[in-house]
Amino acid sequence: MIFEKPEKFEISEHMIPPQMSITIDDAKAIAKTFSDLRMRYHAAIREVSTKLEVLDNEYSLKHDYNPIHHIQCRIKTIDSIAEKIQRKGWPMEIESIYKVMDFAGVRVVCNYIDDIYAVESSLLRQDDMKLIRRKDYIKNPKESGYRSLHLIVEVPIFLSDRTYHMPVEIQIRTIAMDTWASLEHELKYKRAEEMPEEVLQELKACAKSMTEIDATMQRIHRMF
Ligand code: GTP
Ligand code: MG
Repeated sequence: MIFEKPEKFEISEHMIPPQMSITIDDAKAIAKTFSDLRMRYHAAIREVSTKLEVLDNEYSLKHDYNPIHHIQCRIKTIDSIAEKIQRKGWPMEIESIYKVMDFAGVRVVCNYIDDIYAVESSLLRQDDMKLIRRKDYIKNPKESGYRSLHLIVEVPIFLSDRTYHMPVEIQIRTIAMDTWASLEHELKYKRAEEMPEEVLQELKACAKSMTEIDATMQRIHRMF
């Protein structure tokens, strides 16, 4: 097996812009914290994705059916972390990095709505998974029309001399929910200005159609 080598952020004096009031030692400390955290979050993501693969394999053998269509994993970049700290109004310091609960994200795309809750309960019944926060945007969609089940879980990772409990954001959704969220995200982030009201209403209507499609597909699936 080939293991991915973790990135190491090396900082030297010339990389710090003169207008930035930060010492080289502070910059090095931030870079070290970030490298360490990325390595730990990579480990946490692997733990969660392995658990999901195991569950999917078991389902496949037991029921001749796969509840998970695909899984996507991501780790936030340093820019994205900085943007979030700024957006939340937290101070620009190392401590704020630890407040970011979605540093590591796993997106689980399921075939049917029932699969979402089946995956959730199979995952949360595991002794080493601790639920920190749960937001059900399927039962209560967001104003935009966005639907997904969001979990923040804490998962242990075992390093040479200690165990860390790392938060991971898990978004569980159907293919239809994922299609809507991907397209809406792309439209939103392509433009700097707010989207016009009629476009927002159209997108909401699309989300409603997707909800109906999910319900119909689920009904059909239950017949078999
Ligand atoms: P953030 O600070 O933005 O992470 O918000 P939060 O911590 O309150 O989390 P929330 O539960 O709102 O989920 C945030 C994540 O869900 C985003 O990073 C997106 O991946 C997704 N999301 C939430 N709302 C929308 C939406 O309206 N459209 C799309 N496409 N994605 C959304
Ligand atoms: Mg987020």
